[in-house]
Amino acid sequence: MTDTPVTGHETRSIVLDDSVPQGELCVRTIAMPADTNQNGDIFGGWLLSQMDLAGSVFAYKTTLARNVTVAIEAMTFRKPVYVGDLVSVYGTQVRVGRTSITVHIEAWVQRRNEMGMILVTDGNFTYVAIDDHGRPHPIKPVSA
Ligand SMILES: CC(C)(COP(=O)(O)OP(=O)(O)OC[C@H]1O[C@@H](n2cnc3c(N)ncnc32)[C@H](O)[C@@H]1OP(=O)(O)O)[C@@H](O)C(=O)NCCC(=O)NCCS
Repeated sequence: MTDTPVTGHETRSIVLDDSVPQGELCVRTIAMPADTNQNGDIFGGWLLSQMDLAGSVFAYKTTLARNVTVAIEAMTFRKPVYVGDLVSVYGTQVRVGRTSITVHIEAWVQRRNEMGMILVTDGNFTYVAIDDHGRPHPIKPVSA
């Protein structure tokens, strides 16, 4: 993962492309039997937590501050995930405010014996940089 500079208040519009992942790889893992729901497919909450983790990694790398998740928006579960799928989660900076950063997160899977990658979920995750007392803390801009 490469460093993404915080250059001040900015918003980037994301055009979803389901043929190729966008952004920086933040988390890669394999879906395990312990992560299944009552139907035997991967539990949506597990995938959501991998996405939140990926966004948190992105926010930390970008702001170098302790962060908490304040909001998750525009979350779409597009395709199921199965046990054994290789799950890769990518982040793209959407917006940087005074104390918060919004990251577009996409989760993609590679399936055993199948070519290519499949976009399974995407959403926008917002993190707030906090101080030692848990209060919002200004993000220090990094020169580009
Ligand atoms: C995140 C938290 C510190 C924010 O505290 P707050 O007093 O509400 O902060 P503010 O109103 O000053 O907002 C801080 C930033 O968050 C943004 N924000 C607040 N609520 C938001 C929301 N629902 N969606 C998007 N951004 C939001 C504000 O726009 C502001 O961003 P900016 O400074 O870049 O303009 C506080 O709400 C908190 O501790 N929440 C719990 C976080 C947590 O536990 N997460 C894990 C859940 S499992």
